[in-house]
Amino acid sequence: MNTIEACIFDLDGVIVDTAVYHYQAWKRLANELGFDFTEEDNEKLKGVSRVASLNLILGWGGLSKTETEKEELATRKNNWYVDMITKMTPAEVLPGAREFVESCKQAGIKTALGSASKNSATILDKVGISHLFDVVIDGNKVSKPKPDPEVFLKGAEDLGVKPQNCVVFEDAIAGIEAAVNGGMRSVGIGSPSTLAKADLVISGLDQINLEKLSVLGPISHVAG
Ligand code: BG6
Ligand code: MG
Repeated sequence: MNTIEACIFDLDGVIVDTAVYHYQAWKRLANELGFDFTEEDNEKLKGVSRVASLNLILGWGGLSKTETEKEELATRKNNWYVDMITKMTPAEVLPGAREFVESCKQAGIKTALGSASKNSATILDKVGISHLFDVVIDGNKVSKPKPDPEVFLKGAEDLGVKPQNCVVFEDAIAGIEAAVNGGMRSVGIGSPSTLAKADLVISGLDQINLEKLSVLGPISHVAG
């Protein structure tokens, strides 16, 4: 079995629960446009890029907009979202996330962030965990959205680790598919029925440690 040399983490829904802020901001936009969408619809926006999210929402409202109008709408939503995330505090790191990433680093496992969000740096800074990641690949550095593996392959490349020696942690179906498409093992954060393609599914990073991770393969560089 391939050794585990690096762990690559999605941000929204894995390290922090920013999905609720995305939801509030998109809902406000939809409401201003004269319609609403449900929390269930919101599930379909997880892991999806800003532009793709807007297109889905406009579809739910039965609206079609020009590219210029879409740009204005996406900016309007993002400004509300940024207002919310700039108020985030270290208390908003999800249970077990900081501890698990720290334990990876202590064991000599390299760590990367692999997120579609262009706001990743702001969030990491506000919750005080930028230093936990050796490499950060975010929405500003990739052009192909998940399930394309670009974000994770770039992370692996910058870490100097082969894809087959990486494990991806993801809460979105598209994210697990991206890991599979990149030839990486994956841990799903959420429900086993939704994330069926993941090698292991847990409810959150408070449910894993290095011993449990080693069911996916031997951990290399474990500090004595
Ligand atoms: C992903 C979220 O991490 O980032 C999506 O799961 C979001 O919901 C996407 O649309 C893009 O985020 P941002 O911050 O660049 O608008
Ligand atoms: Mg996510």
